[in-house]
Amino acid sequence: MKIAIVGTGYVGLVTGTCFAETGNDVICVDCDPAKIDMLRRGEIPIYEPGLAELVHRNHAAGRLDFTTDLAGATAASRLVFLAVGTPSGEDGAPDLTALGAAVEGIAPHLRPEAIVVVKSTVPVGTNAQLAARLRQQLGREVHVASNPEFLKEGAAIDDFMKPDRVVVGVRRDEVADVLRDLYQPYLRTDKPLLVMSPESAEMTKYVANALLSTKISFINEIANLCERCGADIGAVRRGIGHDSRIGFAFLFPGAGYGGSCFPKDVRALAATARQVGVQARILEAVDAVNVRQKSVLPTKILEHFGGQLADKTIAVWGLSFKPGTDDVREAPALVLIDRLLERGAALRVHDPEAMANVRRAYGDRLIYCERRDDALDGADALAIVTEWKEFVQPDLARVKALLRRPVIFDGRNLYDPKRMREAGFTYYSIGRPVVRPGE
Ligand SMILES: NC(=O)c1ccc[n+]([C@@H]2O[C@H](COP(=O)([O-])OP(=O)(O)OC[C@H]3O[C@@H](n4cnc5c(N)ncnc54)[C@H](O)[C@@H]3O)[C@@H](O)[C@H]2O)c1
Repeated sequence: MKIAIVGTGYVGLVTGTCFAETGNDVICVDCDPAKIDMLRRGEIPIYEPGLAELVHRNHAAGRLDFTTDLAGATAASRLVFLAVGTPSGEDGAPDLTALGAAVEGIAPHLRPEAIVVVKSTVPVGTNAQLAARLRQQLGREVHVASNPEFLKEGAAIDDFMKPDRVVVGVRRDEVADVLRDLYQPYLRTDKPLLVMSPESAEMTKYVANALLSTKISFINEIANLCERCGADIGAVRRGIGHDSRIGFAFLFPGAGYGGSCFPKDVRALAATARQVGVQARILEAVDAVNVRQKSVLPTKILEHFGGQLADKTIAVWGLSFKPGTDDVREAPALVLIDRLLERGAALRVHDPEAMANVRRAYGDRLIYCERRDDALDGADALAIVTEWKEFVQPDLARVKALLRRPVIFDGRNLYDPKRMREAGFTYYSIGRPVVRPGE
């Protein structure tokens, strides 16, 4: 199958590469010439485990190419996937400017049998609007399908190659058949391809992210409550998680969710609700709880130091919004950095993959440490914001020796509080009592 992917970001590059891996001819298009140049030179503009090897292999085999020529790529393709960004716009509703530009760019070059597949996350009704716009512009019917993407950054290749399900929103069976053929190699373990209306497919994507975000905000709210009441969220989590109706997934307390999807998708669904005259109280609360949660860790730091940070240095481990990615969009670490810089703290930061993205935003206002333990050197405390594996089992004696004071603010509950007390740390975590040495 000849496929064009418009938008070569986290989703577009993974999608295009995985389609090439199963033997399709894929051309990835982006309006950013620097990105396309990098890809042509064999450099991967994002960090995603396993992606570089797949890109190199398929590029070398001639099945995967990169271009800025949208017209040429469209004219050569049976399937034209749209995977451009749909960031939060005014009032939480998604900004569809990039999608509009992409549609305008492809329209005159679409082959008669082409299918336009919308992979970007878009509000209910967008597919119908695109189909109407193309019909009006070209004076003929153009097939438009919704095919929302559920991959997770950090595990994107695996998620794409072995999805739990593929959702396809179509008006005509023959369009579903083409997409079923395309996805067949990824559904070999009997995972379903679910065919529904474009409206239901668009809604499904938002509802999945909104429910996952709801679970996170729920457990964070309970964690804060546990702290005030002297309960331990770890114990409570086990107490509820063994109930088969509840389970453990997505019920980890932490520093708040970030990334390019959960925050914007929750706000977008709430905006859709407002537009149709429904007040989405849960969605609005989920977002508000998450915004507040991102302040929990910096507030603990400020309170510990009595609001005086001007002569303090804080080490920060973890900048990306979650492990396994270099993506810092809406990352809790950025809120922490802003709050601490505002109070005059010096920050020594380390992340295995996201330092370049943070440096682009903060320049020389931060001290960037290539090695994890260099960040600790002479710092008055350590804040942990992302649960990268390399933070899980540090040499605690070494951490204590490097820090000026043995204080850790752990936004991901990585360590056992009892062990931290024994190791001589003052240890703050989320939803668990503070421990201090000798208490
Ligand atoms: N990142 C994720 O984990 C994820 C998961 C599922 C769904 N999604 C959704 O997928 C979509 C893309 O997300 P992303 O994270 O890959 O975004 P991204 O910002 O990483 O990539 C978007 C790319 O599109 C390019 N672009 C913008 N306008 C263009 C145009 N007119 N022509 C060609 N290229 C254009 C940009 O230069 C950029 O490279 C969003 O709607 C997002 O909500 C993202």
